[in-house]
Amino acid sequence: MNDSKIVVALDYANTKEALSLVNQLDPTQCKLKVGKELFTAAGPALVEQLVAKDFKVFLDLKFHDIPNTVKKACKTASDLGVWMLNVHASGGSAMMQAALEGVDQSHENPYLIAVTVLTSMNQPTLSETGIQTPVQEQVLRLATLTQTAGLHGVVCSAQEATLLRQHINPDFLLVTPGIRPANTSKDDQSRIVTPPDALKLGASYLVIGRPITQAEQPQKALEAILQSIQ
Ligand code: C5P
Repeated sequence: MNDSKIVVALDYANTKEALSLVNQLDPTQCKLKVGKELFTAAGPALVEQLVAKDFKVFLDLKFHDIPNTVKKACKTASDLGVWMLNVHASGGSAMMQAALEGVDQSHENPYLIAVTVLTSMNQPTLSETGIQTPVQEQVLRLATLTQTAGLHGVVCSAQEATLLRQHINPDFLLVTPGIRPANTSKDDQSRIVTPPDALKLGASYLVIGRPITQAEQPQKALEAILQSIQ
């Protein structure tokens, strides 16, 4: 059984590099996230390989298209046997409901979550897209839209978790990147939160990349994080 709250981000350029890390990890102690770079290079074959190794896989492709296209993409992604997949909430409720229909057409039963406002965006970059709403208000608006559409959760920063937990159901999943164990490098992340703090703030799953993937002993680094949140 794998009820680990840690999702290791496989930010690699090819199958070989990804598998050399994966082969050092225990599938009962973490889940894996495959994003656009690795998926574009390695394709569905790698995802199926990871699933066959008993890893739970979050396919982070952030679909955003017309509802019919997103529905079919979500059905196809679900058929790969992934544990979680995602879309952009800014595609609107019709697109998110179509995504859910696609997931439901599959025999698999993955979680479907949404991205609200990309955490790389700030007020000026949000405004230049025509949205004058304050960022936090827009995050809450899109998270609420996601919940109403029937999806299972959102990706958000741990800082946003507090606000979201005040307004949404307790079982709505909050999947948070930007996590750094105490005494590790921030890399290019600016607002970071430690694993125990992120869970205290209401996060359901923690997406962690470099503190594990760049560690000399990745499985040891994973175990230390698990111990810190026990
Ligand atoms: O190495 P690190 O722990 O910073 O990796 C975090 C992962 O989470 C990366 O895959 C990154 O793209 C992703 N992510 C993020 N911040 C967001 C959304 C996703 O760091 N707001």
